[in-house]
Amino acid sequence: MVAPLRNDPWSVADMVGMSHPVDCSKPYDTSTLAGKTILITGGASGFGAAFARHWAQHGAHLIIGDVNDRAGEELVAELRSAPSTAASQVIVYQHCDVTSWPDQVALFQTAISSSPTHSLDAVVAGAGIIEKGNPLTPSPTSTFDLPYNLDPSTNNTPPPPPPLHILAVNLTGVMYTTHLALYHLPRNNPNPNPTPSTPQSSTRPRDRHILLLSSIAGLTPLPHQTEYTTSKHAIMGLFRALRGTAWQAHGVRVNVLAPYFVDTPLLPVAGRVLLAGVPLGEVGGVVDAGTRLMVEGGVRGRALGVGPGVRVVDGGGGGRVEGERRQAVWEIYGHDYERVETFVWRYLAVMNLMRGIKGWVGVVTDMWGICFGRRR
Ligand SMILES: NC(=O)c1ccc[n+]([C@@H]2O[C@H](COP(=O)([O-])OP(=O)(O)OC[C@H]3O[C@@H](n4cnc5c(N)ncnc54)[C@H](O)[C@@H]3O)[C@@H](O)[C@H]2O)c1
Repeated sequence: MVAPLRNDPWSVADMVGMSHPVDCSKPYDTSTLAGKTILITGGASGFGAAFARHWAQHGAHLIIGDVNDRAGEELVAELRSAPSTAASQVIVYQHCDVTSWPDQVALFQTAISSSPTHSLDAVVAGAGIIEKGNPLTPSPTSTFDLPYNLDPSTNNTPPPPPPLHILAVNLTGVMYTTHLALYHLPRNNPNPNPTPSTPQSSTRPRDRHILLLSSIAGLTPLPHQTEYTTSKHAIMGLFRALRGTAWQAHGVRVNVLAPYFVDTPLLPVAGRVLLAGVPLGEVGGVVDAGTRLMVEGGVRGRALGVGPGVRVVDGGGGGRVEGERRQAVWEIYGHDYERVETFVWRYLAVMNLMRGIKGWVGVVTDMWGICFGRRR
């Protein structure tokens, strides 16, 4: 039997369906990836491409959106021709600028129409950019916290507005993706009817999962990466709010990854120089953490940090060493909803009450129909 998350009356962790902390030292079963339809934004490069490669090997159908069309098309060609890819597997690339609502609507429509089940199981909001300009030479298109043209001798002309393009991609783009995911995921049928001829992967209960990509910059400040830090903190805000409602309201699991610096095309040269000699996170660690969250259908409302792999010594009593292992993935930020204040408690209690009433209305309507002749 599993112990309750908290006995505290102010804990709503169970009420919102938040699962228990993830034990990252335990193995997980990747077989549930087979047959899942997964949409990935920013999937042409870095983490998104690595997820796609790994999940395609395990039989997932993938719909990849990105602005880097060449990398996206090349990735799809590579995955389609891989020996492990089945002929029936759907692997699609489509141009999608996440800051464009019509682009995102079209990407989701392509996912629904090309999926063998005409529905989605999971969405990864992976597209992201970072400030690449040199803080020592600010330009009108870069560096939020160093307004362009600070020279007092010129004049008092106000600077041009900051471009805020990082917020547009990393925040508005992710909000668009999440909103569309909350619209489409609940439309999948969670309990397909098995028939003797249906493959096992299509008779499992369906999953509904949103995987968000925050960062170490969602937990700590990165100087001169003001927009990036703001956007990644905002993704944590999005995750923390949604984990209180998405499961209860829509049966949608929401989880988030917060990787430390990893050597992908995202990392600016200045960052690489500053981090010289420092152990970085690894793409493999991010894929491991993302895959765990993707396959473990019981994991809801959890955040995993991914850092450089470190040696962990498991000890017995009295300083005895029982085993050693490498670990790069850690559970973080677990306490939300385990002790909330009055507004959140009352809001969630009312939401639950309304859902209960809605359920009873359904029962009464059905009974009325049975008694007075209306048939569904
Ligand atoms: N690499 C790191 O150190 C690191 C650490 C923590 C979090 N992250 C986050 O992980 C995510 C993936 O980053 P990555 O390291 O794989 O970088 P990446 O540059 O390899 O991948 C990001 C992808 O997003 C795409 N993209 C950019 N703007 C887009 C837009 N407007 N519309 C659609 N796609 C767009 C890019 O073309 C690229 O393919 C990002 O959200 C990033 O902030 C990265």
